[in-house]
Amino acid sequence: MKTSTAALSLALYAQGIYAFPRAMYDTAEHFAALQKRAGPQGGAPLPLVPPPFDPALQYVSNQGQYKFVPPGPLDERGPCPGLNALANHNYLPHNGIATIQQFVDATNKGFGMSRDLSTFLAVYGAIVDGTGTGWSIRGTPHTGISGSHGNYETDSSPCRGDLNQWGSNTDLQITQFKRLYALQPNAATANYNLDVLRTFRTQRLTESINKNPYFSYGPFTGVAVSQAAFTFIYRFMANKSSEYPEGRLDKATLKSFMSIQGDDNNLKWVPGNEQFPDYFYKRHPTDEYSIPYFQSDIVYFAQADPRILIPGCNKGKVNTYSALDPGTLSNGAYTAQQAAANPVCFASAFAKAEATAFTGLSTSQLAPLFSALDSATGGLNCKAIGSVNQTALAACPGFSFYGGPNGPVAPGAIQN
Ligand code: HEM
Ligand SMILES: *[C@@H]1O[C@H](CO)[C@@H](O)[C@H](O)[C@H]1NC(C)=O
Ligand SMILES: *[C@@H]1O[C@H](CO)[C@@H](O)[C@H](O)[C@H]1NC(C)=O
Repeated sequence: MKTSTAALSLALYAQGIYAFPRAMYDTAEHFAALQKRAGPQGGAPLPLVPPPFDPALQYVSNQGQYKFVPPGPLDERGPCPGLNALANHNYLPHNGIATIQQFVDATNKGFGMSRDLSTFLAVYGAIVDGTGTGWSIRGTPHTGISGSHGNYETDSSPCRGDLNQWGSNTDLQITQFKRLYALQPNAATANYNLDVLRTFRTQRLTESINKNPYFSYGPFTGVAVSQAAFTFIYRFMANKSSEYPEGRLDKATLKSFMSIQGDDNNLKWVPGNEQFPDYFYKRHPTDEYSIPYFQSDIVYFAQADPRILIPGCNKGKVNTYSALDPGTLSNGAYTAQQAAANPVCFASAFAKAEATAFTGLSTSQLAPLFSALDSATGGLNCKAIGSVNQTALAACPGFSFYGGPNGPVAPGAIQN
């Protein structure tokens, strides 16, 4: 199924789902016009105007109490480079285990992540993959991110390998990093912006289909979480300045945050050494990256590759990918068009409907998760999914492969 740019914009317009930034979706023409006015971020419509730049408000210290200290043997570091960097600089507890509030405060202080988005991400992690009030940035099943394969951490990430392709969901695969790195050949002008990242997003989806026999792209993990893994690279890692208030992400800063050392012909991953570079400037407080902002970036990615809005999977062999119809999956609650127009709604409604099944927790244990999901998506007018069609879901064997940080390499997996 294909969803054209015009159909998407019209669907957005017709449903009036954006409380913010409403103006950009007034008409399909307006949306297209905004995209032509490309800024350093690429053709993505946001920000509507360049944000302010205030060095005093945006400087992120890597000195004194925030000096880089590499992780020791007992410190947990996982697949999220942003959280690893925050722990290495003591914005998060150095051991890598933190409370919901600590995640929310640290991501705001270090990167300018909006509290609606971080609360959504941190509450989900704590409840589904942690103790209910906190969790680890690495961990094992039910204790942290690395152990959350299939319900949070997922396949086709930018630089971390697919669990059943490589046997680890946490190791960075240097081949993947090198392909991203090569997308901006000229170091003097390199900027890994949303245009570069959506190209890489498409390449990685195709690569997982081609190489991971159990590639799984779930309604929450694939459609929502895995897009964040791409958009966050530019939206958070880019250095802001008066020249580039939207940010510019050059090669040195990308390497620093991805824990890559060595020169261009000798690039090497050093596990867990993600660092804030010197003189890094985060997002301006009036321009924090929020849930509606994130959803607008997903829609921008989907214009280049409509596959990203539809869940799907390989069936035990490479290149056996097929999509799962959102209408069938949601027992008719969402049409495919509605799911595509509002991917964050579809993903969170699915997560709610399926939560007891994939967490093993009771409805009352899950109550804080449900209220966090509701308040996070409050501005989007999301429809609920009454029940998930389990028969349709069972078509994807990989959906039930919960686990990590390590797992079996699937027969037929291609590693290169
Ligand atoms: C509470 C906040 C956050 C949570 C709970 C979180 C969680 C996660 C999870 C579960 C993944 C794995 C996704 C996948 O498998 O594709 C991930 C990956 C990632 N995260 Fe975070 N994250 C948070 C904040 C941040 C921030 C502030 C940044 C800023 C740079 C960031 C950057 C990334 C990137 C770039 C990846 C993809 C890594 C790769 O494969 O190359 N995250 N994060
Ligand atoms: C960020 O940009 C400012 C202004 O151009 C520059 O002084 C600073 O060194 C840059 N920081 C990084 C990490 O590139
Ligand atoms: C549930 O999924 C199965 C398998 O795809 C399908 O045959 C059935 O019609 C679906 N049920 C509903 C109510 O959509």
